[in-house]
Amino acid sequence: MMTGPDSEKTKDYTRRLKAAVSAFYGEVRKDDMLGPVFAARVHDWDSHIEKITNFWLCVLLASGEYKGSPVATHYAFRDHLSPQMFGRWEALWKESLVQFFDPDEARHILYKTTRISGSLQTVLFDGVQRFLSGNGLLHSRRDEV
Ligand code: HEM
Repeated sequence: MMTGPDSEKTKDYTRRLKAAVSAFYGEVRKDDMLGPVFAARVHDWDSHIEKITNFWLCVLLASGEYKGSPVATHYAFRDHLSPQMFGRWEALWKESLVQFFDPDEARHILYKTTRISGSLQTVLFDGVQRFLSGNGLLHSRRDEV
């Protein structure tokens, strides 16, 4: 979006993103497949939602404060993840996005989502982890996805 960080458009986009992330985790927590994976690891939902909103602001608007490491984070509990779970995760995220974004906006976010999800799954399930950790890439702080 070609607008400044304080523009009304950016504020509105940020507000809707936070609403979509909150709605998404509301559904995730109720989900039979995904709920237990999160319940075991997320103990402060407000701060998780804030972190993930910042992650998306970083991806979508090149703003926000996110400095985490999604690859290393998910890698740590890869034994509890499966490609089927990623399919479910993406379906719930899509359902939440369409509530707050128009079709073009939602399509753009889903395009980014699919790419990031695909990169994560490649690392988690395709056996490249040995290559990445051997090169120190798995634990680099940014830009793994
Ligand atoms: C099966 C699918 C997924 C599951 C079950 C899952 C689960 C989780 C859990 C439990 C955490 C919190 C970990 C912790 O704080 O210790 C987390 C963090 C995170 N997830 Fe996922 N996730 C999934 C897919 C995705 C996808 C597709 C994306 C991005 C498109 C994503 C982005 C993130 C980010 C940015 C964090 C924060 C990492 C950090 O601490 O910096 N996740 N995820």
